[in-house]
Amino acid sequence: MIIRPATEQDIPAITAIFNEAVANSNAIWTEKQDSEAERLAWMKARLALGYPVLVAEGPVVLGYGTFGDFRAFPGYRYSVEHSVYIHADHRGRGLGRVIVDALVAAATALGKHVMIAGIDGGNPASLRLHARAGFVEVARMPEVGRKFGRWLDLVFMQRVLDAAGAARPD
Ligand SMILES: CC(C)(COP(=O)(O)OP(=O)(O)OC[C@H]1O[C@@H](n2cnc3c(N)ncnc32)[C@H](O)[C@@H]1OP(=O)(O)O)[C@@H](O)C(=O)NCCC(=O)NCCS
Repeated sequence: MIIRPATEQDIPAITAIFNEAVANSNAIWTEKQDSEAERLAWMKARLALGYPVLVAEGPVVLGYGTFGDFRAFPGYRYSVEHSVYIHADHRGRGLGRVIVDALVAAATALGKHVMIAGIDGGNPASLRLHARAGFVEVARMPEVGRKFGRWLDLVFMQRVLDAAGAARPD
C-alpha cells in the first residue's frame, strides 16, 4: 500500500467512497450524492489552494484524505480541517491512521500550526482513530446537525503540529 497524491483518474473511486459514506453513515452531513464532475471540481479547487488530496492505493484506491482552510478569515491561516474516508471493504485495518499521519506530515510541511477534525459524535471509529493519532477533544456541540431524521452532535478534535508558541513569519 502506498500513499500518493490523487489524480483525475482517481475521481471515480473517490466519488464512490464519498457517496457510500453519504448513503450509509453520518460521517458527511448531507444526503445528496455527488457526481464525478462535482468531486473533480472539488478536488481541483482544493489543489488550487495548495492543499493536498491523498489516496491510499493497494492496488486499487482504498481510501483518501485531504485538508483545507478551517475558516475563511486570514487569522485562521495556520489552522486546517481535514477529512479521511476509507472504502467500506477496507476499514479496521489501520488505513485511516496511515492517511491521517500523512495529512499531519503534509500540513506540518506547509507550516500549519493546528489541525482539526470535525467528527460526528456517534462515530467511535473516527473518535478512536484521532485520539490514537494525538488529537484531543476540544469541543462537543450537541444537536447542531441533522441527518436521517436525527440530531447529530459535532465533536471537534485538534492536534497542535509544532511547538507551542512557535515563531511565525506573519
Ligand atoms: C473512520 C475511518 C476513517 C477509520 O479508518 P479505519 O482505517 O477504518 O480505522 P483504523 O483501522 O485506523 O482504526 C481506528 C481505531 O478505531 C477503532 N475502531 C474501529 N471501529 C470501531 C468502532 N466501531 N468502535 C470503536 N472503535 C473502533 C480501531 O480498533 C482502531 O483503534 P486501535 O488503533 O486502538 O485499534 C473509517 O472507518 C471510515 O472511513 N469510515 C467512514 C467515513 C468516516 O467516518 N470518516 C471520518 C469522518 S470524521
